[in-house]
Amino acid sequence: MHTEKSLKILAIETSCDDTAAAVVALVGGVPTVLSSVVSSQIELHRQYGGVVPALAAREHVKNLVPVIDEALRASDTGPNDIDAIAVTQGPGLIPALLAGVSGAKALASVWAKPLIGIHHIEGHIYANFIHTLTTDNSQPTTIESDSGNRKLEIGNSCFPLLALVVSGGHTELVLMRDHFEYEILGRTKDDAAGEAFDKVAKMLGLPYPGGPEVAARAAQYGKEGPSLRDGLVEAIQDSESSGSPRPRGLGLAKTDKKNLCFPRPMIDSGDYDFSFSGLKTAVLYEIRKTAEEDRDEPFINGICHAFQEAVVDVLTAKTRRAIEEYAPATLVIAGGVSANVLLRESLSTIVASEFPYTAFVVPDFKYSLDNAAMIGSAALLRYARLSPKEREALKKNAIDLEPDANLPLSKP
Ligand code: KG4
Ligand code: ZN
Repeated sequence: MHTEKSLKILAIETSCDDTAAAVVALVGGVPTVLSSVVSSQIELHRQYGGVVPALAAREHVKNLVPVIDEALRASDTGPNDIDAIAVTQGPGLIPALLAGVSGAKALASVWAKPLIGIHHIEGHIYANFIHTLTTDNSQPTTIESDSGNRKLEIGNSCFPLLALVVSGGHTELVLMRDHFEYEILGRTKDDAAGEAFDKVAKMLGLPYPGGPEVAARAAQYGKEGPSLRDGLVEAIQDSESSGSPRPRGLGLAKTDKKNLCFPRPMIDSGDYDFSFSGLKTAVLYEIRKTAEEDRDEPFINGICHAFQEAVVDVLTAKTRRAIEEYAPATLVIAGGVSANVLLRESLSTIVASEFPYTAFVVPDFKYSLDNAAMIGSAALLRYARLSPKEREALKKNAIDLEPDANLPLSKP
């Protein structure tokens, strides 16, 4: 790939409920984050149990200028230092996208800069290519993710690359044979994985966004400590006096969910499609079996644990099959659910034990959720490949860029 020193991009992301800006530079051919600012609207939307598009847009309009200003100041960057502006063009909520795209168009016009529209999921995938500043700078052509000893090379050797995309709006297995070439092997037929996490959280009365809440509850499963309610005192004493270990969950009252196992939808379907709405319904029916007043900590933790296991099992099984078929050099995960620790561990385990020639790379936690650095990363690598004529066209056409709520992942 053509690389040049010190290309610098200001990137903007407003596809959902985070107003984000970042300054990202191509250092030795590798996207390097100079500043990344995210203003979250979670507190605002939490009271409605999900993102309200009109409110999100209003907040983006209010926050965009301060967020951009902070990103520029934190990286000591002025308009003259910037080669181009990048913005999330879609998919996402149209009112939210419009705020970012309008701001980016205004800056691109006034500063006479090329404007690059980036696909949100492309950004999530390219979060895996971000060079974290903790990396050894003497080796600028490789980047290290927080998976530790694995390095993702920017060059051809990382392809074919398999991306498990798991966000609030998408669940897809994507095969890349080169940069910016996407073949969608399969996708969800209904809910996205993150959406399922959010809906299960809602059913349990947990706050939005549900993913981190459900994951945290699942991690507490079995660690609640004994509850002396429900007449289980004797059973606990028996196990202690006989010296036998207390079975997991014993003493956790009648709401203990230790044997709970939810269905794994489409796990054996032989293709790469997913479905999570049946699992969500199974969870709903299970919750309804217990009266609201009996839905205590062990109950909630048990449901979260069993649900998360089911989702991770399905994602892992489909990914394993795709690795078997396509033998990718690299497996990456992309989107908000890539922050899920059980998913990271599960994929890491199968890759290490079954696929020694596949490198498993995960985004740094701070670039797992929505941010603008990932948009800048994709934009830098796209921009670096363009001829002067193509760059000029992006400058001339900046004003014509329009957001697209259903933007498809495109060819280069
Ligand atoms: O990529 P993202 O920030 O926004 C979209 O593009 O949709 O993903 C947000 C999704 C939400 O559904 C959220 O619940 C989920 O990612 N999520 C998680 C975790 N952290 C965020 N899901 C499971 N475990 C997590 N730790
Ligand atoms: Zn996202």
